[in-house]
Amino acid sequence: MIVAGVMSGTSADGINVALVRFASDEARRASRLSPHQPLQSAFQFLAHEEYPFPARVRRAILEMMNAELARVADLARLNFLLGELYAEAVAKTARKHRAKVDLVGCHGQTLYHQGVAERFLGRRLAATWQTGEGALVAARLGLPVVSDFRPADIAAGGKGAPLVPFLDYLLYRDTIFRHPDRKREVGQNRIAQNRIAQNLGGIANLTAIPAGASLGQLIAFDTGPGNMVIDAVMESFFGKRYDRDGKVAASGRVMDGVVTRLLGTKFFRQRPPRTAGREEFGREYVGRFLQMCRGAGKPDVVATATALTARSIADAVRRFVMPRFSTGPKPGNHQMIVSGGGAKNPSLMAMLRDEIATLGIELHFSDEFGLPAEAKEAVAFALLAYETWHRRPSNVPAATGAGRAVILGKISYA
Ligand SMILES: Nc1ncnc2c1ncn2[C@@H]1O[C@H](COP(=O)(O)OP(=O)(O)O)[C@@H](O)[C@H]1O
Ligand SMILES: [Mg+2]
Repeated sequence: MIVAGVMSGTSADGINVALVRFASDEARRASRLSPHQPLQSAFQFLAHEEYPFPARVRRAILEMMNAELARVADLARLNFLLGELYAEAVAKTARKHRAKVDLVGCHGQTLYHQGVAERFLGRRLAATWQTGEGALVAARLGLPVVSDFRPADIAAGGKGAPLVPFLDYLLYRDTIFRHPDRKREVGQNRIAQNRIAQNLGGIANLTAIPAGASLGQLIAFDTGPGNMVIDAVMESFFGKRYDRDGKVAASGRVMDGVVTRLLGTKFFRQRPPRTAGREEFGREYVGRFLQMCRGAGKPDVVATATALTARSIADAVRRFVMPRFSTGPKPGNHQMIVSGGGAKNPSLMAMLRDEIATLGIELHFSDEFGLPAEAKEAVAFALLAYETWHRRPSNVPAATGAGRAVILGKISYA
């Protein structure tokens, strides 16, 4: 079956659609794949396409995330408008790649996410809201759609995020493959890898998978800003959406003192599990950041915002991940595999490579593992939809803090 995964992230830059083929459960049993890795072996990435939002749609989305500006009628309309845009994006992708899609997994656009319970009208509640009407997507495409993945995890006591670790685990865990017909292990002499899947969207988040870890031993949390601060600075200085190919950052000098001061603030001191969004690194944060940098040249400010992302990741890895990684016979058998739009920023990648090299970690791209960096999150929602369609749970309680594994999402039938 072919599943289309649809993602639009906190950057509100556009829609990513991934097409993924899954072998049926029967086919998997017939080929006698290891029961421990049935999906990984039976799942094939087919294609990815990206559709930027028109400028005014993007502006409207960013406004709707702002409690002061959002109007309820516009929120309701945006829900249906996004449904139309998601459906169009899937239809175009399917046409272009001549694929017959059977199921859609649509994450939607997060307008509000508060993973930790706070008091509201006399009760303690966590809440999350992704918009983009699944019923509309289903009707336009004539296909079943799974949407609204996060609430079920929150209802089970989790933070509703992160959900991508389920895919990270299937892709990157370093298990020793047992050939079904033989007792001996294949690849026995290989050095086990400790891996970190690092995504760089608006926010940066990681899934750390110690070599041989079970799902229950994953470590996943938001490290802090991904591209969000860089994008906001580019917007405010140059009216640009982002620092294309990291050119501006490359021409500036990092103000190390500013980065060090920022890393001493509350969010970065928090131990995981922790989540971030526009609430943490949006408009207000960027205002304070620009204040701290006042007087500096514009390229230096962009370089400093870029360094904040790189150093905050390395800092979080050093404090919260390395203690959980065993060191093998020789140092350096740790890998960081990056994905998300930030992987396209060479200045950011160069800084990150230098930072993590001091921890004995090598930088890799998800492309080397067969997934284009910008496609990974869309692929994740194809996978989660596939699991939901088969009535299987796909949250990772170790990552979200949920009390149990639950089936995610709501299904709209065509
Ligand atoms: N060529 C590029 N050069 C620099 N940055 C890029 C490039 N392409 C994408 N990006 C960055 O990636 C961001 C989008 O990343 P994405 O993974 O879609 O984030 P989100 O999941 O938050 O939508 C852009 O806003 C931009 O900052
Ligand atoms: Mg995006």
